[in-house]
Amino acid sequence: MVMEKFDWENLPFGYIKTDYNIRCVYKDGKWGSLEVSSSEYIDIHIAATGLHYGQEAFEGLKAYMGKDGKIRLFRWEENARRMISSAEGVKMAAVPVEMFGEALFRVIALNKKFIPPYGSGASLYIRPLLYGSGAEVGVKPSVEYTFLMFVTPVGPYFKGGVTPINVMICRDFDRAAPLGTGNYKVGGNYAASLRAVIAAHESGYANIIFLDAKEKKYIDECGPANFFGIKDNTYITPKSESILNSITNMSLIEIAKSMGMKTERRPIPIEELTSFDETGACGTAAVISPIAKIFDPKTNKVYEYCKDGAPGPESMKLYNKLVSIQTGDEPDEFGWVTIVEKGKRQKAKDKSKKIEKQRDRII
Ligand code: PLP
Ligand code: COI
Repeated sequence: MVMEKFDWENLPFGYIKTDYNIRCVYKDGKWGSLEVSSSEYIDIHIAATGLHYGQEAFEGLKAYMGKDGKIRLFRWEENARRMISSAEGVKMAAVPVEMFGEALFRVIALNKKFIPPYGSGASLYIRPLLYGSGAEVGVKPSVEYTFLMFVTPVGPYFKGGVTPINVMICRDFDRAAPLGTGNYKVGGNYAASLRAVIAAHESGYANIIFLDAKEKKYIDECGPANFFGIKDNTYITPKSESILNSITNMSLIEIAKSMGMKTERRPIPIEELTSFDETGACGTAAVISPIAKIFDPKTNKVYEYCKDGAPGPESMKLYNKLVSIQTGDEPDEFGWVTIVEKGKRQKAKDKSKKIEKQRDRII
């Protein structure tokens, strides 16, 4: 295996072509077999429900290269389960966890040379996607679905990695409604967030904080990440029906507890921003992005953290512990990590060898 040559330390969070992706079609009430493709394109029906009615869901997870040369995945079954929940949320056929896993191990084995080296701060981002591919013109669920998984090497989502970011509270738009689809990872939520994200960027902010859509009193989602605040040795994160249940956040709650911190998941009123010692955004792409400033355009108030320009000590402890588990620098005391090399990868590798031989016949 020859490793691809990239400027790994300076990779953006963007798309880079890799060798293969995996696809599978659901038809006549059942999933077909996984197919390997080297094309970056899909052939899609002009009346597909994924295009017209937003029948679409995706996931995001990473494969990390350890110092020991082993490839690690972090809580991948949670991504598979969340994709099932998203599928149910927009009435799509769900991808069974086993099938998700098979596609995952296979796509990693086929694109091994794109996994960024240990210590580069980059990782292999894996993007599973599910959409209604059958034709309908009336508003109803498709009878046909396509599941695919591609990978791309990525650097940090926010420039500078753990360098603190400035964010703005959104007063003009909502990302999701309390009884809407904000708790599913469906494309429509991201489309709904774009006007706010662009407005924040144009005002010089890296990210946006949405408020609860009903009362505009509480912190909701923090762009493509969950929000957290820390004070009095307590890790506090919003409880809301319209935010995504972040796997990173769930894990940080467990890590915080293991470090002797208290944890609370509850509504966070905007005024409480004054009392936090540290705040941050967390997610697979964001990892932990500490927040330096939060600007509220309604009151012109600026909430400031990281006054010396450095991330807060508690956020750094959480960050270091999380990343050490993900890369295998510290033992996986929580049982969250799957090493791709053993067992399943072996299986995936064997299959992928066969597939590579057959690739002339594959789309
Ligand atoms: N919230 C939103 C809207 C997201 O897109 C993501 C990213 O997946 C998260 C939160 C963080 O979730 P996770 O930690 O599972 O990646
Ligand atoms: C992730 O954190 O994995 C995401 O999906 C965020 C984003 C790039 C949509």
